[in-house]
Amino acid sequence: MDGERRPDRPAVAGAGAAGAGPIGSVAAPTGTTTRPADGASGSMTPTGPRDGPLILVADDVPANVELLFDQLHALGYRTIAADDGVSALAAASRHLPDLCILDVSMPSGDLGCDDRSTGFEVCRRIKRDPRTARIPVVFVTALNDATDRVKAIEAGGDDFLTKPHNRLVLGARVRSLLKLKTATDALEESVRKLRELEKVRDDLLKMIVHDLKTPLTSVLATLELLLDGDFGALSSTQHQVVADAEAKAEDLLRLIEDLLEIAKLEETALPLVLIPIAPIALLTEVVHEWAVRFQQAAATATIDGAGDAPIFQADKSLLKRVFGNLIQNALTHSPNAVTLRLAVRREPVGVLFTVADNGPGIPSEYQELIFRKFEQVRTLNAPRVRSSGLGLAFCRLVVERHGGRIWVKSTEGEGSAFHILLPTQPRTAEYPAISP
Ligand SMILES: Nc1ncnc2c1ncn2[C@@H]1O[C@H](COP(=O)(O)OP(=O)(O)OP(=O)(O)O)[C@@H](O)[C@H]1O
Ligand SMILES: [Mg+2]
Repeated sequence: MDGERRPDRPAVAGAGAAGAGPIGSVAAPTGTTTRPADGASGSMTPTGPRDGPLILVADDVPANVELLFDQLHALGYRTIAADDGVSALAAASRHLPDLCILDVSMPSGDLGCDDRSTGFEVCRRIKRDPRTARIPVVFVTALNDATDRVKAIEAGGDDFLTKPHNRLVLGARVRSLLKLKTATDALEESVRKLRELEKVRDDLLKMIVHDLKTPLTSVLATLELLLDGDFGALSSTQHQVVADAEAKAEDLLRLIEDLLEIAKLEETALPLVLIPIAPIALLTEVVHEWAVRFQQAAATATIDGAGDAPIFQADKSLLKRVFGNLIQNALTHSPNAVTLRLAVRREPVGVLFTVADNGPGIPSEYQELIFRKFEQVRTLNAPRVRSSGLGLAFCRLVVERHGGRIWVKSTEGEGSAFHILLPTQPRTAEYPAISP
């Protein structure tokens, strides 16, 4: 590759001067007109057929650019050139080409890397910028040793063309990468549209739910007055019927409150009240609070702590509700009395809690789904109590607000183990969630 570079660059002569072929109209060969720093960025005009996909060719050897331009134009692509790292990046972000063909070795300009690896650095930056990240990058180089190939892959490169490249190979590679990009772009667009629709649906749901709350609260108040005999004595049948109606209205109100709370968590509008928490003490407190329910459900619970689990910062009341949801699930989604194991241990990145049961288990295809709103395992065994599919969505939001992660491991017929990994110091939106 370096061997092909002409130190004194007389190359323009053949291309620009003669004006022959597509390269004649390309600004690149002089190495000046593609550089925005020269104030000539306006001349970075795509050339070639009218409507073809746009390909950026970055190479500091005009003859190489000329050859590629000729071949790409013949294949129906438009082209734009750059002759160093800085102008390649500028062209990529300004023109958002459909594909970049980069020479590995070219002047780096201000990129702060070795000239012999400018292409890698340009590629790394293209892939780092969300606006250009999906543009496929092909390296044209004499990359014949494995280290260079590894570097190219690590930089995010999508393919290689080895010099001297074959025209047919160029065509085939470019075509397949462009096809892939078109498919990825279409996918991205439908994800964006879906997200928009989801937002509209959520906003609408929130509005409806909120508007339901006020009339429902007054229905409940009226039913209470009726039950208290404020409108006259009720027969026992009337009392029973009104009490049932009140219980259903209360279920509905709880559902509304759950939905509103989840909406707040999704908008990160629910502030965390952080306090230091001793993990074993927390589990002991939770089990103690559930003792009566365990008795009623003939369930048993054990606490298993390695003793070295560190004190961590978290919102205790939200976290207790997370455990409450997991315990409630173990009790309600199992047809038999369950044995629960609550465990905690230290992890390099924080504290790992486990809530395991020997219930029916969760089919693998549901193990991610159930953490989304309203998702439930479709089984013939209906849960014994009201169940709306919101509990685990709440748990996930709370855990993620703390910068942690929640997941389940389960084997059908053997039980489920829910794991919660929390950092010792909560990380909020500005930090990425930790991985297990
Ligand atoms: N321990 C468990 N064992 C078996 N299935 C479970 C368990 N925990 C959750 N599930 C399944 O995951 C689904 C989702 O649980 P989630 O807590 O989100 O909602 P829910 O319990 O149905 O309703 P809600 O918690 O809102 O009252 C449940 O409906 C159930 O099918
Ligand atoms: Mg639940």
